[in-house]
Amino acid sequence: MSEKTLAKATAQLPCSVVILSAKAENRQGAMTASAMYVSQVPPVLVVSISKTFATYQLIEKSKEFAVNVLADNQLELSKMFGSVHGYEVDKFQNFNISTEAASKVGAPIISGCFANFECRVRSSLWEVEGNHAIYVAEVLAFKMNKELKPMVWLNNRYFKVGAQCRI
Ligand SMILES: Cc1cc2nc3c(=O)[nH]c(=O)nc-3n(C[C@H](O)[C@H](O)[C@H](O)COP(=O)(O)O)c2cc1C
Repeated sequence: MSEKTLAKATAQLPCSVVILSAKAENRQGAMTASAMYVSQVPPVLVVSISKTFATYQLIEKSKEFAVNVLADNQLELSKMFGSVHGYEVDKFQNFNISTEAASKVGAPIISGCFANFECRVRSSLWEVEGNHAIYVAEVLAFKMNKELKPMVWLNNRYFKVGAQCRI
């Protein structure tokens, strides 16, 4: 099994495009990532974050985050939050991002998204291979904008949701 072929194959798994935002000890930060729905009862999502990233440190401290699901007109946000590290810069200020206060968590919520989920960490997996931590988190509150459509990450490119498959 060659690593290159494996990378090509795994890139074919379609993913959501979200911004994970977090706040701890008066520092806020956010990064582009993917989130996966796990269960409805209880409402649970899962995310995987590199332990070397600034946002990881905020989530580790606060045990909370918001999942801001990007709409297909928010491509620039994905690039902004996914291309620089927030150890010394506040990406929200640098990129002039409009935010709102969340109702259940300290993390800021990004305006204009397809959906925003406010989450509290229920458990985390550290003993995974590589340098990622996996957070299983309960959704405490959410809102959704039905006028918008979510964006999809596939084969290292961004896509709009396409036509429905039918038999
Ligand atoms: C489309 C996209 C998806 C990404 N998904 C993840 C992810 O699931 N987990 C992760 O650790 N990094 C992911 N990244 C990379 C981080 O967003 C990026 O390294 C970011 O600059 C980290 O910021 P921070 O150090 O301020 O937390 C993704 C980047 C892009 C553009």
